[in-house]
Amino acid sequence: MTATSELATTEVPHYPMARQCPFDPPRELGAIQAEESIRRVTIWDGSRPWLVTRHDDVRAVLADQRFSADNLTSGYPATSAAVGARRRNVPSFIAMDDPQHAFFRKMLISEFSVKAIRALRPMIEQTVDELLDGMAASAQPVDLVQAFALPLPSLVICRMLGVPYADHPFFQSRSHALVNTESGVEESVAASNELLHYLEGLIAEREASGSEDDMLGRLAVRHVLTGEITREQAASMGLLLLVAGHETTANMIALGTLLLLQDPEQAARVREGLSVEGAVEELLRLLTVTHFGRRRVATEDVELGGVTIRAGEGVVAAAEIANRDPEVFADPDALDVDRSPNHHVAFGHGVHQCLGQQLARVELQVAYPALLRRFPTLRVDTPLDDVAFRDAMVVYGVHALPVTW
Ligand code: HEM
Repeated sequence: MTATSELATTEVPHYPMARQCPFDPPRELGAIQAEESIRRVTIWDGSRPWLVTRHDDVRAVLADQRFSADNLTSGYPATSAAVGARRRNVPSFIAMDDPQHAFFRKMLISEFSVKAIRALRPMIEQTVDELLDGMAASAQPVDLVQAFALPLPSLVICRMLGVPYADHPFFQSRSHALVNTESGVEESVAASNELLHYLEGLIAEREASGSEDDMLGRLAVRHVLTGEITREQAASMGLLLLVAGHETTANMIALGTLLLLQDPEQAARVREGLSVEGAVEELLRLLTVTHFGRRRVATEDVELGGVTIRAGEGVVAAAEIANRDPEVFADPDALDVDRSPNHHVAFGHGVHQCLGQQLARVELQVAYPALLRRFPTLRVDTPLDDVAFRDAMVVYGVHALPVTW
């Protein structure tokens, strides 16, 4: 080994690090935040982006358009080879900069407004009740992921988009391949192409029928048929919504329930409806399920927290540890369902801040108390050490969670 490569392995830590506790970010991230706050790390391809760990700095990166989200820019720190290759294949507005990003996002804003999502609440409540009825009628133990956490957001986003839920084995398995950093490049690109092809078919049906009853229909009639965007671009928007719309919320439901069950007193407050909104924000903050940092690349030299990030250098804005910043959150590792204020960055910040956050909030605000009320004696049917956590997935959570009551 040469002196240089020795330096690489000893002085530049690998990111992401392994967790010591399934509910907390790796301890090394806390040490970096306390000691240096911004430093280089090594990622899977040997490149060395800057890791940004303080809450203020993470927000500064995400609010500054000199940091590009375009993963085709040289120096962009991709999460894995598969994610990098796939994105080359299918441009998605989450990976575009303004004005191109805003052009696509604007078409969807009214679909996800507070008012539009409030109107969906009765449908979400009914879906929750039906799923809990199904769970109550099942033999125990029940896998909470398959019985409740995954179907709830999948059913909701399917209804919004106009994707037949009956196709869920197909789209959930492809989505699973997309968020797995251990997927092969070929597998990941194939999964993305199959989903795109499927969504293009649904959009073509709406183009032919002229139906504007669902989101794919509105995209088809108002934006594809008018020549504003292509069918493939509409399908790429649909893919982002379908995957982001169910993977994240599903994992928040299952992992959030598991964490709440560790603390019966706070779970009781949620069950009694006393701190539901606070609990949702607190679980979002503590769990930060999109746990591999927000990825950007500098397009100009930028001074940040005492370092100069040069044009072309990658940045990982580590929201998972920014959400534990003791300068912003008192007793940051504690679960406090009454924490206020709670300015977490679990939904990101800046122009790419989560489009679906109101929807996710309502789903979680309905799901946790309803589950805890229906099954007041709910408990996990396996030791914590045996729970399979999603360490290699872009969206953290649990693969399965056997429960009884
Ligand atoms: C963006 C997290 C639920 C759709 C984001 C970003 C984060 C995030 C961190 C920012 C990405 C970045 O800056 O690089 C979450 C979490 C969720 C959730 C934690 C659930 C608890 C949803 C849902 C939908 C959705 C339910 C839609 C149905 C999107 C979209 C973007 C996005 C479209 C891209 C926005 C843009 O680039 O302008 N989400 N999300 N998300 N999310 Fe979510």
